Amino acid sequence: MSGLITLVSLMYLVSAACYVIGLHMMRTPKTARNGNRVSAVGMIIAVIMTFLIVINKHEATMTGSIVLAAGLILGLAYGTIRARTVEMTDMPQLVSLFNAVGGGAAAAIGTFDYLSLTAGSHISFAFSFPVALDLVIGGVTFSGSLIATGKLAGNISGKPISFPGAKLLNAIVVIVIVAAVVLTIGFPVNAWWLVLTLVASLIFGILMTIPIGGADMPVVVSLLNAFTGLAVAMAGFVIDNQALIIAGALVGAAGTILTLQMAAAMNRSVMNIIAGGFGTGDSNSAAADDVPVNVKETSPDDVGVQLAYAQNVMIVPGYGLAAAQAQHEVAELAKLLTDHDINVNYAIHPVAGRMPGHMNVLLAEVNVPYDQMKQLEEANSMFENTDVSLVIGANDVTNPAARRKGTAITGMPILDIDKSKSVVVIKRSMSTGYAGIQNELFSDDQTHMLFADAKKGLQDIIASTKEYLDE
Ligand code: TAP
Repeated sequence: MSGLITLVSLMYLVSAACYVIGLHMMRTPKTARNGNRVSAVGMIIAVIMTFLIVINKHEATMTGSIVLAAGLILGLAYGTIRARTVEMTDMPQLVSLFNAVGGGAAAAIGTFDYLSLTAGSHISFAFSFPVALDLVIGGVTFSGSLIATGKLAGNISGKPISFPGAKLLNAIVVIVIVAAVVLTIGFPVNAWWLVLTLVASLIFGILMTIPIGGADMPVVVSLLNAFTGLAVAMAGFVIDNQALIIAGALVGAAGTILTLQMAAAMNRSVMNIIAGGFGTGDSNSAAADDVPVNVKETSPDDVGVQLAYAQNVMIVPGYGLAAAQAQHEVAELAKLLTDHDINVNYAIHPVAGRMPGHMNVLLAEVNVPYDQMKQLEEANSMFENTDVSLVIGANDVTNPAARRKGTAITGMPILDIDKSKSVVVIKRSMSTGYAGIQNELFSDDQTHMLFADAKKGLQDIIASTKEYLDE
């Protein structure tokens, strides 16, 4: 057994190295896919080692080993099938569901280990403290992520759900959690304090997520992802498993950095999310909904003329591009223009689409050169010299309502597309975007709407642009 423990410890180290190298490679779209593979290899090593060590334990029974193997096979099968079949646009729901599973598993580990020890044994602070934290973070993550999954999938209203006294209830639940944690640690033989900790944490997860609405969702999903990492790391302390501690700490750190970056991109405060006062702008969204939107329509033929005679073109991709899977058409149009010496760039908003880096991933898939992908700040410095901004299925990230007070997206930095000389927006109708408010950009003087599915609209534009370029 001691030889096996040495082997497992060494292999855990190898798997930890894989996570770190994989994360490092995920910094740029160029190496991100391989980074994902390297991290997955690390995870496979860790799972195999954990399986080996558990079935070789003295107290391991045949039934236990069979249950473990069955769980492993079921989990592998479900994960592989879901990851292979999920639509790119449904990815946030899946990530959120995985967050829930991670947090729930961590809380289950803590509960089981604690309950197996309470029968009269002495429980040290070094054990009960991580168990209590594991339960709080895991419980909040589990219920919060399930609500977030429901909201993202449309099974629960995406609008903020609030009720009178919500803040007071939040405060009471937080006090109950703190008291239950103190009692769990102080009187570790009474398992009821542990149950109270778990129940109050589950309630807090729900209360924390239901007031989140519209455009604020990405930040909360990212925050819950960071929580999952912390819960898993705590579970690692509880069962003394280095692989869980390292993997959990890495997810917690990476998730925290992502949350801070997303919050900065949305101009929101992370503390507000935790306090449950998040998404307050949405309650005033009627102000922006009421904006009269009188739009001018255009045709693929007109857009073709504009593009053929432009010098600088900025493509602004959004969720609709991903939904229509029109990335191949957008790359074809860009190539057509650059082959005729027209400058083409892409303006990438950090929360365009439905997941962090969504647009980068989509464009990388069709080999768009990285130097053409301009992030928010750089893109905004280019709009004044842009002849045509072609907005494809983007809405909220271009909405000047963000510059006014009292709207769902107030304060969110946006792409300053209204500064370009001409704007063409491809979308199917006047439906709103994720935040549920009308876009004032659409009624600007220089804006024209092409009502079409992004794929079909782009195909028609490519055909007409070719004609004018060949003239
Ligand atoms: P949105 O504001 O959601 O707007 C997308 C637009 O695409 C819609 O107005 C829709 O209008 C159009 N569309 C949908 N399907 C289309 C199709 N097949 N062809 C053409 N157009 C289509 O998108 P955005 O500007 O990318 O902003 C993202 C929003 O999602 C932000 O509010 C952000 O906070 C939120 N969000 C982001 C994330 C992350 S991490 N990126 C995660 C969750 C939520 P029609 O129906 O009229 O076509």
